[in-house]
Amino acid sequence: MALVKISEILGGDCTDKQVSVRGWVYRKRQGKELIFLVVRDATGVIQCTVKKANATAWAEAEKLTIESSLTLEGVAKPDTRAPGGYEIAAEAVSIIGLAEVFPIAKDKSEEFIRDMRHLWLRSRKMNVVMDVRAKVLEYSREYFRKTCFTEVSPPMFISAAVEGGSTLFGLKYFDQTLYLTQSSQLYLEILIYSLENVYCIAPSFRAEKSRTIRHLTEYWHMEAEWPFADMNDLMKFEEGLMEHICKRTAEDCQKEFAELGADISKLAQVQVPFPRITYAEAIDRLKAKNSALKWGDDLGYEDEKLLAEEFGKPFFVYDYPKAIKAFYCKTRRDQPEIALSVDMMVPRIGEISTGGQREEDKDQLIQRMKEQELKPEDYEWYLDLRRYGTVPHVGFGMGVERLLVWMLDLDNIIDAIPFPRTTRRFYP
Ligand code: 4AD
Ligand code: MG
Repeated sequence: MALVKISEILGGDCTDKQVSVRGWVYRKRQGKELIFLVVRDATGVIQCTVKKANATAWAEAEKLTIESSLTLEGVAKPDTRAPGGYEIAAEAVSIIGLAEVFPIAKDKSEEFIRDMRHLWLRSRKMNVVMDVRAKVLEYSREYFRKTCFTEVSPPMFISAAVEGGSTLFGLKYFDQTLYLTQSSQLYLEILIYSLENVYCIAPSFRAEKSRTIRHLTEYWHMEAEWPFADMNDLMKFEEGLMEHICKRTAEDCQKEFAELGADISKLAQVQVPFPRITYAEAIDRLKAKNSALKWGDDLGYEDEKLLAEEFGKPFFVYDYPKAIKAFYCKTRRDQPEIALSVDMMVPRIGEISTGGQREEDKDQLIQRMKEQELKPEDYEWYLDLRRYGTVPHVGFGMGVERLLVWMLDLDNIIDAIPFPRTTRRFYP
């Protein structure tokens, strides 16, 4: 008998054939003559019916509890009443692992479900989100490969801050203090001197107290860095990457979006070139919406959302005041108050990436460090990159979970990662 995946049956590949599926009981309803089971595997759920007339299968099905694992054999038939349009008329049921009473039920609170993350990940919603997440990472890698980038593996333990002390996690490392990396950027910058175009998809850590739908303390960061490039090259690359990810997702993930009730049509609107506005223009636009922001202020979540409403799709904001950007940002030689930095924003989430041109001049870089009260001696190796064959270069970092929250219309970033870490959540 053919062992099949549920998606093969739902795709019409097994109609009227004898099949065997392996999975878990998702739902169960027992009538007088018929037991209805909804069985799930990694690829979907299917309704199965067990008739009382089949005494052996009936006895086994009667014992089944929610989340018991099983093998079920029978004939796959189209049935318009069944969710998904197919049903298995079971002939044999065999229990693999009989489950105790499953703690997650409809009446449970959100907090309870979060404590049960290890079990909640079996829900269809989480199953589908994690599936799309893996595909989005795959499409990203596809694009990096197509554009001749090499994937590299930076360290997570680091000795000096990348993004400013306030969100830095310190840790005891034998008898010294180290930090968890906030971004792999500085290490990617090292690697451009040999591999040139490099990227990584790795965790970043932020001691971030903000409790918003867009903040985690541990998130996955897609970062790239490359030499001989400027701001225009950077924005072109980033928009190309986004267009590719959205196009591939729109082609490949229609069923997943339908199951989640997410709007897939917005992905088709993601086409290069993206709108680009300067920070100064962003401030003017916000002022026109009665915002009290003035030039020099950092854009907050509410400001970014307000701006993004006007565009309804991804766009760039560039040329920020240098005072609100990191020490490594190159400043405009004709306007030294402006940092060559760019954020990509999307509706509902605001910022999903930050990138820019890096300061390649050693003296300027030291000057920037001092302005931000950083000690150049903590960054000797970083300064060496400017001593030996310095080169103009650019890079960016995009939050994988923020991207997914936007793509999949998720209510909260914690649903975009299997094991979310926030100020109060680190279990399981
Ligand atoms: O804007 P950030 O801090 O920029 C950097 O770290 C640069 N060094 C990246 C680079 O140029 N290589 O972070 C980049 C992105 C943000 O735009 C956001 O999408 C995500 O990382 N991010 C977070 N995602 C979830 N939770 C948090 N607490 C995040 N902080 C940043
Ligand atoms: Mg940023």
